[in-house]
Amino acid sequence: MTIRSVIIGTGSALPARRVSNAELAEQVDTTDEWIVERTGIRFRHIAAPHETTATLATDAARAALAKAGVEAGSIDLIVLATATPDQTFPASATKVQAALEVGDCVAFDVAAVCSGFLYALQVADSMIRAGAHRRALVIGAETFSRILDWEDRTTCVLFGDGAGAVVLDAQEGDQVSGRGILATRLHADGRHNDLLYVDGGPSTTGTVGKLRMKGREVFRHAVVNLAAVMEESLAAAGLESAEVDWVVPHQANARILDATARKLGLDPGKVIVTVDQHANTSAASVPLALDAAVADGRIKQGDLIVLEAMGGGFTWGAAVVRF
Ligand code: COA
Repeated sequence: MTIRSVIIGTGSALPARRVSNAELAEQVDTTDEWIVERTGIRFRHIAAPHETTATLATDAARAALAKAGVEAGSIDLIVLATATPDQTFPASATKVQAALEVGDCVAFDVAAVCSGFLYALQVADSMIRAGAHRRALVIGAETFSRILDWEDRTTCVLFGDGAGAVVLDAQEGDQVSGRGILATRLHADGRHNDLLYVDGGPSTTGTVGKLRMKGREVFRHAVVNLAAVMEESLAAAGLESAEVDWVVPHQANARILDATARKLGLDPGKVIVTVDQHANTSAASVPLALDAAVADGRIKQGDLIVLEAMGGGFTWGAAVVRF
């Protein structure tokens, strides 16, 4: 028997303000038709001034703890994935720790943009399997509305704010029949920095900067990399795509979800889609989609799920989980 990290609770949080494409089209030179046809996005949530990455992360974590039926005090590790922290430092994870009154624990942020949740999940899973921690909060939380150029219609229509969280618990299990994270695979290729980046930072401009993206090139890389890393992670778990109950993808563009599913020969009905409701929430998108599908009863205990994401860097990754 080996130690496995089992997801015992999921939670999410969205800003109260929900913005439709039609509402955006009043400020930006775009249309509902263009956005729906090219991306599948219909709505996004936008944070109010009092809603920050850390407050959304805290709300999502609280919901995940409640779902798991465990106390905040039992958490000994918090890994928060974000590219939009409340402050350059300290880590937003420590704000979550304080807000939830977790007590002494290990708490830090992970920066891998849209693949951040997959990176955070592998880091926490590795620390649990090494025997260093027993129970972790893994969170993806973002307020991308704060780094969007609201004059640039090619990017500002694509993103939204939100947070999702899972509670990971150290449990004994066997390779395939037992619950838990069965395999994860991560990648990075820093040669593509200029295709998706923020044009500022503390060590360069001294400003926060705005998001810049060459969307068409990102699209092309996304389909190839995501299909490959899903196959790689399934092979690492000794499983085949036909055995997968649900794919929980990063929600960037409905056309990327369709093209990736087609490339793997997966039934599109097995792909969880929330991009229409949330747009691209970067590191929050996978745990938000996971919580939505758990809450509405589609994903059930024992299901085989594959999480996948790709983002700036480029970074990308996938995780095979017996839920
Ligand atoms: N409203 C109306 N028209 C728009 C628009 C908008 N919001 N944004 C761009 N356009 C226009 C462009 O100006 C262009 O016009 P032109 O042909 O006259 O120059 C036209 O639409 C087509 O633009 P293009 O960028 O080629 O469209 P596309 O089909 O590639 O779709 C994206 C653009 C961004 C939706 C798509 O490339 C994409 O989703 N890429 C991946 C993005 C992604 O996943 N990023 C995150 C990864 S973590």
